[in-house]
Amino acid sequence: MTHPYLSDHVHLNDEGTAVVILDQTQIPNRTVYLTLETAQQMFDAIHQLQVRGAPCIGICAAYDLYVLAQQIDPQTAAPDFLSQLNQQADYLASSRPTAVNLRWALDRMLETVARCAGQADRLAILHQECIAIHEEDIAMCRSIAEYGLSLIKNGDGILTHCNAGPLATSRYGTALGPLFLGHERGMDFHVFADETRPLLQGARLTSYELSRAGIDVTLICDNMASIVMKNGWVQACFVGCDRVAANGDTANKIGTSGVAILAKHYGIPFYVLGPTSTIDLHCASGADIPIELRDPGEIREKFYTEPMALPEISCYNPAFDVTDHTLISGIVTEYGICRAPYTQSLRAVFEKKYAGLSYGMPEKEDEK
Ligand code: MRU
Repeated sequence: MTHPYLSDHVHLNDEGTAVVILDQTQIPNRTVYLTLETAQQMFDAIHQLQVRGAPCIGICAAYDLYVLAQQIDPQTAAPDFLSQLNQQADYLASSRPTAVNLRWALDRMLETVARCAGQADRLAILHQECIAIHEEDIAMCRSIAEYGLSLIKNGDGILTHCNAGPLATSRYGTALGPLFLGHERGMDFHVFADETRPLLQGARLTSYELSRAGIDVTLICDNMASIVMKNGWVQACFVGCDRVAANGDTANKIGTSGVAILAKHYGIPFYVLGPTSTIDLHCASGADIPIELRDPGEIREKFYTEPMALPEISCYNPAFDVTDHTLISGIVTEYGICRAPYTQSLRAVFEKKYAGLSYGMPEKEDEK
């Protein structure tokens, strides 16, 4: 049975004319939903992390584009319609550069509508496609959860960084998916959630999601990961991803690469979990992945009652870092677990995908 918490927090309103999102910046203190109708509101919601997490940004952007398409004059001829939609897509894509799911979802919407000749159908086609993107993400997360669960056993300690749970995706999440699934099957895990400076997704979102689901979670500051690993309390690290390059180098929330280096030192397996929509074979390596730089105020002031550094102090605030593929024990996709050499195993996953093969493992009823 699906846990009641695992519900959808990005969807269209009843009329289909606006996108409704749960404002993730308000969690865990308030449950606030926002209605997005204009391109500016949509851009801001992504940029300000009111909607965040690579797959979730992609789903939201697909709904956004459908809503914006409805605002184009219905009489507009196909080439003009496409060019207006392309402009909106470029604008939305510029809100956050690292998570490839954003551009991926927008391109998928654009390509789908470009293929449709009849003007009358174009909104229906866009509607169908954004729903498909959302539904596929639910199915992919479920499959990733199943494969991820095969890597751990009852009683294990798992360390995670940032938030790659239901809020960052749909339903199960990626890095947290195996934990939700195992919990549903009666398994117990002890999760260490890095608070994840500077925006505290681990504290605000991961610990909230896990504790609400009844999963044992301990919140730690990022600089405590080493001691919990040294104490022998961590049997595996599970993290999400924002873009995986063809060679397996993986961009994820700033601090992830440090966790991977520690895990290597302590001999703990380090797994990246993500759907194929987060794998970008156009990037040969992590050096090709654009890294988002954010406002220094997030380091100096945000979440403090008064500034913790002088206003003139310069800050470097990259939102993501790249974990070298040599530090990654496996990349868990909806098609299975890729192992090194990733250049081959990731390509093999895409061959299955393009061949239209179905994915997922049979459900296991027995406790491990
Ligand atoms: O800046 P954020 O909060 O969007 O960063 C999110 C992450 O880094 C997640 O780990 C990643 O998007 C995967 S979500 C399944």
